[in-house]
Amino acid sequence: MTATGKRRILVTSALPYINGVKHLGNLAGSMLPADVYSRFQRLRGHDVLYICATDEHGTPAELAAQAAGISVRDYCDEQHEIQKKAGEGFELSYDHFGRSSGEENARLTQHFANVLEANGLIEERVMEQVYSIDDGRFLPDRYVEGTCPHCDYEKARGDQCDNCGRLLDPVELIDPYSAVSGSKNVEVRETRHLFLRQSEMQETIRDWVEASTDWPALARSIALKWLDEGLRDRAITRDLSWGVPVINPDGSVRDGFENKVFYVWFDAPIEYIGATEEWAKAKGNPDAWRSWWRTDEGADEVQYVQFMGKDNVAFHTVGFPVTIMGSKEPWKLVDQLKAFNWVTWYGGKFSTSNKRGVFMDQALDLLPADYWRWYLIANAPEGSDAAFTWEGFQSSINSDLANVLGNFVNRITKYCASKFDGKVPAAGDTGEAEAWMVSELETRLPQLVQHYENMDFRKAAAETRAIWAAGNEYLTKAEPWVKYKNNVDEAAIGVRTGLNLAALFGIIAQPIIPEAAKMILDALNIPDANRTMTAEGLSDVRTLLDALPHGMDIAPPDVLFRKIEDDQVAEWTEKFGGED
Ligand code: MF3
Ligand code: ZN
Repeated sequence: MTATGKRRILVTSALPYINGVKHLGNLAGSMLPADVYSRFQRLRGHDVLYICATDEHGTPAELAAQAAGISVRDYCDEQHEIQKKAGEGFELSYDHFGRSSGEENARLTQHFANVLEANGLIEERVMEQVYSIDDGRFLPDRYVEGTCPHCDYEKARGDQCDNCGRLLDPVELIDPYSAVSGSKNVEVRETRHLFLRQSEMQETIRDWVEASTDWPALARSIALKWLDEGLRDRAITRDLSWGVPVINPDGSVRDGFENKVFYVWFDAPIEYIGATEEWAKAKGNPDAWRSWWRTDEGADEVQYVQFMGKDNVAFHTVGFPVTIMGSKEPWKLVDQLKAFNWVTWYGGKFSTSNKRGVFMDQALDLLPADYWRWYLIANAPEGSDAAFTWEGFQSSINSDLANVLGNFVNRITKYCASKFDGKVPAAGDTGEAEAWMVSELETRLPQLVQHYENMDFRKAAAETRAIWAAGNEYLTKAEPWVKYKNNVDEAAIGVRTGLNLAALFGIIAQPIIPEAAKMILDALNIPDANRTMTAEGLSDVRTLLDALPHGMDIAPPDVLFRKIEDDQVAEWTEKFGGED
């Protein structure tokens, strides 16, 4: 923190796999909360850098490209654009949305591998792999399928069984066959791979996790569970052509690794750094990434926060830190790691093929981003999994957004337009109702800030709503429409306070529902500089409630939220699934 209290905050969300647009559950467990947190911290006046990218290597991308009959490079180009668009549609405020297949990541990945090897943490080992005689190649991970040795499921993939969820080693599969050609003419052969000696780092990682006391609980407990099981050395190369090539420090290809590349989970987290380099280059200051990542060049001052689903925690608390710490170079480590459980579709899995669930692009065809953003943050899967249901979605939008927020803003701005000529009234003195509102805000605003600081997103949304609801209660107490009949000045104070509340409600809505918030703040003519949530700005509630210049013109905004009707719920249930 600097003398002015301005912090530098680096935010990353788990990099979405390149293949396919993500569903609402993926969004809710990584990119969306990262965006909400970034927006909040920017509004606080901090210097935020939010980095994300597509995770482009690995067998799923190769297989999908093959199925589409195009090159992997073309496939990734296409899919990256699609995901980028979906992110923009959801108002995800990345400072940069990069690509793990870029040259920055390749160079960094090769660099890390070479220093790790120099530090004795990487060694070549012989291992057994499934080889397809007809395809003339090894079949890593998902290239081989077969029967699960644990549950007898017949279409288990080499790396994991979709039926029982267990992680597998491809050579364990019973009756294996090639996912490329379907050929059963396969055998187990020996091949050499690079192994990262994670077991050597067990104590270092444990000490670090145990010292990381300000991680939210879920991430910490998952990390400790993995450590209790003991860190295992793992292969960080694969027999594939799509990926980062394995080279020697002099740039030549490593002997015996001509047809191998680094494993996707080795290079993907390194892309957090790679994408920051891409960002720096794009803005014409190619060294700007260094002060975010090199602790000897300013990054020791940075607060680094990562967001991800719970399945990613091990890779971020063990895998990536082994890379970083094992390098013995001054790289920035994560300071707070926020993990999420799953959003389920009525308690089950999202599935394209079974038409269960809504994917990001489809969602935006139905309703504006804000509706989804609100529901997913208000019901964030923090303490446990959270089920998406159309009924829950409908009632949350109709009640929280349309009734509590939308009606308040409409009512007060319309009343001002019709009775006060659309100008912020100057007359009237504050009384009991205003004093009550002040005391509500004096307790609730600091709580709201604290929930965001703690990354308690459900609580932050609930507090936001509670503040909106208090505004409605204030209007019931102040009742300007009743007072207007006897004493216009007494009505004026209610309208003025109400308009200032509407502005405040728009300001605190910005992290979660940025588009609607902007409509409210535009209608009230709030200059950009006054849309912040800085500590100073929020500290004096009395000033906040009389901040709009007296006599200033305001205009009621267009309809902020449309209620979701029962027949829409019926139609969408039909189309995307619902209660079975
Ligand atoms: N692509 C992975 C997933 O969706 C996440 C990668 S996060 C990274 O589960 F750190 F490795 F990039
Ligand atoms: Zn299984």
